[in-house]
Amino acid sequence: KEDYPISVQFDFNTGVFEPQEKSVERKVSDMVKMFHDKTAVESMIKAGDPLVYEIFYYGFKTSASDMALGTTRIQPGKVGDEYYMTKGHFHEAFDQPEIYFCVKGEGYLLMETREGEFQAEKWTPGTISHIPPMWAHRVVNTGKEPLVFVATYHLAAGHTYTEVEEKGFLKCLVEKDGKATFVLNDKRK
Ligand code: 6PG
Ligand code: NI
Repeated sequence: KEDYPISVQFDFNTGVFEPQEKSVERKVSDMVKMFHDKTAVESMIKAGDPLVYEIFYYGFKTSASDMALGTTRIQPGKVGDEYYMTKGHFHEAFDQPEIYFCVKGEGYLLMETREGEFQAEKWTPGTISHIPPMWAHRVVNTGKEPLVFVATYHLAAGHTYTEVEEKGFLKCLVEKDGKATFVLNDKRK
């Protein structure tokens, strides 16, 4: 049945859709390299290792195409003063873009090229962003409720996490005087 149309049913509130191929959970312990406050990382892991975000996937593969759907739900919260976020990655293939659609919550999409161009998009429900090929992408939840977004891309894109793990993004989002504030990443100073 691989060449036949298929629909899934998406819940705007939870970010979950059915049917689904698989889901992945990322906890603080999966993101030790990403958050800058290592003391906070350690104590949060000891205190129960909370869930940071979940991804729900479907790969719509046919004999001639490989369109994928992923929805992500990031919990509200912080590690130290830094807001919960996705790990962030480059697509492995050099010619693979992606569309992100924010449906719930508020935050920022951070993007950066290997040449050091940085761009942040403010997200509210309804913001749709195009991520061009060769731009690393990460989403940060600066709000008080879960942030849910829908992503479409090709399975052929692949993921490269190592560079973001080592260097992070140019800027981090931390809470300062109760407000989301951009600060320069320590690793880039
Ligand atoms: C992708 C998408 C998206 C992303 C998740 C989790 O290329 O698959 O960008 O589905 O994987 O939002 O983010 P991380 O992959 O960075 O953990
Ligand atoms: Ni991606």
